[in-house]
Amino acid sequence: MGVILYVPVKLFLACSAVATLAACTMTTDPAKPSVSSAPFGTLPDGRTVEIFTLTGGGRVTMQTISYGAVITSITTPDRNGQTDDVVLGFDQLQGYLIPPPYFGAVVGRYGNRIAKGQFTLDGATYHLATNNGPNHLHGGVKGFDKQLWRAEPFAHDTDAGIVYTLTSPDGDEGYPGTLSVKVTYTLSHGDALTVDYDATTDTATVVNLTQHSYFNLAGRGDILAHRLQIDADRYTPVDATLIPTGEIADVASTPLDFRKPAAIGARIDADDPQLKHAGGYDHNWVLNGAAGTLRHAATLEDPASGRTLDVSTTEPGLQFYSGNFLDGTLTGKGGRVYQKRAALCLETQHFPDSPNHPTFPSTVLRPGGSYRSKTVFTFGVARP
Ligand code: GLA
Repeated sequence: MGVILYVPVKLFLACSAVATLAACTMTTDPAKPSVSSAPFGTLPDGRTVEIFTLTGGGRVTMQTISYGAVITSITTPDRNGQTDDVVLGFDQLQGYLIPPPYFGAVVGRYGNRIAKGQFTLDGATYHLATNNGPNHLHGGVKGFDKQLWRAEPFAHDTDAGIVYTLTSPDGDEGYPGTLSVKVTYTLSHGDALTVDYDATTDTATVVNLTQHSYFNLAGRGDILAHRLQIDADRYTPVDATLIPTGEIADVASTPLDFRKPAAIGARIDADDPQLKHAGGYDHNWVLNGAAGTLRHAATLEDPASGRTLDVSTTEPGLQFYSGNFLDGTLTGKGGRVYQKRAALCLETQHFPDSPNHPTFPSTVLRPGGSYRSKTVFTFGVARP
């Protein structure tokens, strides 16, 4: 197994083709950002999937694979310095080849749902896979989470990361236009993971990319005791198939009011039609402030470990999904069985079904234009 280490100095160290990761313990300053790579597995068509291990020089270490641009692990210390992996995933590539639940992946071309798998753009109607009940979800049957991305690691003095690129051909999963996509993960010395998304097209199309990590800041159990705060006065109510009705409603006096930090479990089973539709939280919050500018969106805290996660984004919306569809049928890393609400997603995004809602912020990308989006996940520890 070959292992390659990228370091910020003008040094490039490569272990021999027979070296193992364990054997490849190079003496680099642990405070220096670095990226190492190794084979993770082989796809059924014979292509190799690589795994990258990143440190930004801070306290967080993360791993990502070139299949789906999946983040496979994020290891952070608790208030006592004890480290745990705070995202769900699998030990083997095989786990990521199955259909949902999109653990850690970049989802696209359109993250979230498009009603009845259909939209009209410039007079033409496009038909997409209906892979979530009557609706289209997360880019279809073979979305970006099921693609092998090209990966270019980098390391600087204060951060390290991976540039992932992908070309989605015209007609891919029914979407028009050849879409060139770039997603950059940058892990900084300050334990901030920045996700930059860029895309261009040769024909008008729709784009809505997001990161689908499942967080559990305790590293075990469920997320019901996690406290969440969302900078949103409003949300987009949904119908029974989780498609927005088009209304923009106030969160005030509803269990979706997270303007002040609240335990996720406190109201999740309340007798509320929105929660009934989703079996918990699985809604898009309309973030306060101006879309297009990077601003705080949410803070998550696990009171037991003290671990915190701050999310900032340029996106207009945030899908908070409380892992309602996890049901104990998946066994993940270290043999852990993922039960209902074992983790939650904070998916920064445009609103679901925007192509069918002209009043929502537009997801249309035209030739000559560029899609740009930025989200920052910052990991920390709260002191009691
Ligand atoms: C998103 C959706 C959920 C669910 C998950 C994947 O978060 O909003 O309803 O489909 O993806 O299981």
